[in-house]
Amino acid sequence: MIIDGKKEAELIRNEIKKEISELKKKTAKTPSLSVILIGDLAPSKIYVKNKEKSAREVGISSKIIQYPKNVSEKDVLMKIDELNKDENTSGILVQLPLPNQISKEKIINAIHPSKDVDGFNPINVGNLSSGYKSIVPCTPLGCLLLIKQVEKNLSGKHAVIIGRSNLNGKPMAQLLLKENCTVTIVHSKTKNLQKECLKADILVAAVGVPNLVKKDWVKDNIIIIDVGINKVGEKIIGDVSFDDLRNKAKAITPVPGGVGPMTIACLLKNTLECFKAHQL
Ligand code: GUN
Repeated sequence: MIIDGKKEAELIRNEIKKEISELKKKTAKTPSLSVILIGDLAPSKIYVKNKEKSAREVGISSKIIQYPKNVSEKDVLMKIDELNKDENTSGILVQLPLPNQISKEKIINAIHPSKDVDGFNPINVGNLSSGYKSIVPCTPLGCLLLIKQVEKNLSGKHAVIIGRSNLNGKPMAQLLLKENCTVTIVHSKTKNLQKECLKADILVAAVGVPNLVKKDWVKDNIIIIDVGINKVGEKIIGDVSFDDLRNKAKAITPVPGGVGPMTIACLLKNTLECFKAHQL
């Protein structure tokens, strides 16, 4: 089975759109998302544009605040402070990566946890790892929703996550632990990647190495979620050798059309949640 992330994301966006329209009737208010984009990296510009377009389509007002790549850290921090205090801003996102003069740690810490639609602020990270209510990073949340489309009960399953980033690997591990999976995180210093991957009932690949996972790396009947977005020539390919595995896996996400659309749908979901929390 090929997991259709596009279709799943559309269902989520439709639900969000409906809820926003109902909330608008009741409160005359709608959610709003502010996206800070620094510099002119082509992928970041594309991601941000897609986020803004998708937000508008579901009724979230969205603005992009653009800075040149030599902007000072202080100017960005001042803008975040202003947005934190602004009653009309439900969610704040600073697109990563950042230029060298700007500390990612300071920026992420500056975003108020209740407006942190990325779920990167350590307060949200801490709440997630404690099993408390928190805003969950969009990509791993999207991955979990796709896994649960295939299998509702994940209890006791062995999940192997390739990659230990704050954006994907670590929050993914927390989410799968909450689902009672046995979780292994493997990374660039892991001794025998293949041996670890062969234990997986569920594999989430988020390393950015094109076609790393091959047929002899996994068991039959596995669920494979490919977070990789690697540009090879003119093509975008994942971390998993899709053609090798599409007939071996029980379910697998394609790239593109798998995790990507879910990331944006979950961003919209998080923005709506932030909006609702601020209305209480
Ligand atoms: N850059 C790549 N992925 C992401 C993401 O999920 N959020 C932000 N803010 N920047 C990113």
